[in-house]
Amino acid sequence: MTTNQDVRLTGVSAEQILDSRGHPTLQVEVVTADGLSFFGSAPSGASTGEHEARELRDGGTDFRGLGVTKAMTFVDSQIEPVLTEKAWTTLDQIDGTLAALDGTGNFAKIGANTAVAVSIACARAFAHQQRIPLHQWVSEQLGTTPVMPVPHFNVVNGGAHAANDLAFQEFLIAPTGARTISDAIQMGAEIYAALESELRSRFGALGVGDEGGFAPDTDDENQVLDVLVRSIERAGLSPGLNVRLALDAAANSFYDGKYYRLHGRWRSADDLLERYVHLAANYPIWSIEDPFDESDRDAWRDIVDRLGSTVQILGDDIFVTDAQRIRVGAKEGIANAALIKPNQVGTVTQTLEALRAAQEVGFRTMVSHRSGETLDTFIADLAVGAGTGQLKAGAPARGERVAKYNRLTRLQKLHPELRYAHWWAD
Ligand code: PGA
Ligand code: ZN
Repeated sequence: MTTNQDVRLTGVSAEQILDSRGHPTLQVEVVTADGLSFFGSAPSGASTGEHEARELRDGGTDFRGLGVTKAMTFVDSQIEPVLTEKAWTTLDQIDGTLAALDGTGNFAKIGANTAVAVSIACARAFAHQQRIPLHQWVSEQLGTTPVMPVPHFNVVNGGAHAANDLAFQEFLIAPTGARTISDAIQMGAEIYAALESELRSRFGALGVGDEGGFAPDTDDENQVLDVLVRSIERAGLSPGLNVRLALDAAANSFYDGKYYRLHGRWRSADDLLERYVHLAANYPIWSIEDPFDESDRDAWRDIVDRLGSTVQILGDDIFVTDAQRIRVGAKEGIANAALIKPNQVGTVTQTLEALRAAQEVGFRTMVSHRSGETLDTFIADLAVGAGTGQLKAGAPARGERVAKYNRLTRLQKLHPELRYAHWWAD
């Protein structure tokens, strides 16, 4: 029996668009029986976890092998016929059908890029069918209270995202002391401008990394953190009070299987741990993501023991938005928070499962973009609806990054009852 809550699709199609790095990616359109179109597009990572769901790329010479025409063909030849066959009661049914069509367990056949774009488009169709906003649909799936997240602006880039010698990939500012999202965005933009002047006077020519953060020519994270603190002050704000700092070391990218490369020297996990302890003691750093390689689980446990009571130890590549990996990680005590990236696992349904697992084990969560992005703003609604209190979507600059922050502004206008997160006071 079909009900008026069911979604009936009359068309599913895909196009190859360019992402923010100029690489091809997929945009999917689903058309519902009432003639409306809903879209979803796939982002793409550069510093990926070993166990991420697989992207489908063409290979060959066009676009240096990165084309997604095979994925488009899958949408036309296999996904559209199945998804237009019947009415769907839940997104879970559609996402389960995608997983069954794929059959590999990690989307190695149809591609996680294909799956995530279809799944996001369908999530929008379900919310519309129920005549509720997307963030509310998310919150109903999870039983959460929607909240405006604290934006984590990535303002200095290193690692795999920039051409400088900084080992750590991301230096983020989090306006935890803002009262509203518009305050927070203003703080982010004003600090970004102050930071640009500070860095220019110190380093001269200034590159920009993949996520819109500056890429100064240095390998010294102390120097970066000093400049960040000064820039916060120059913007008339108080480091640690209005604005806290966060790091994503993305340590997979400077690990050789045994040692970590920092400042041109190979260091043990213990040395690196001491470095984090020193940084957390000297700067208002409240969150450290991927401090060690995903295989170096003892080191993860050590950092939770040393810093976990005051610092968020956030797992990205080690959990890859996978519910089971989050549960195991919690049991092992290797983190106290999980990063949430829908394309890392493949579908919105699996993303919701990861969020549920994090809730169960008492982990905080941060919703995240990828270094290769599109103008799709799904993650903003996801962060609000899931009540994570944290969203990272890059610098407060560049279209594909500000699209997410601007979506928060829009949601605040449409839903003035949404409160700005205040987890730092917990
Ligand atoms: P990625 O980087 O999108 O290149 O994986 C983001 C992150 O590591 O958080
Ligand atoms: Zn990361």
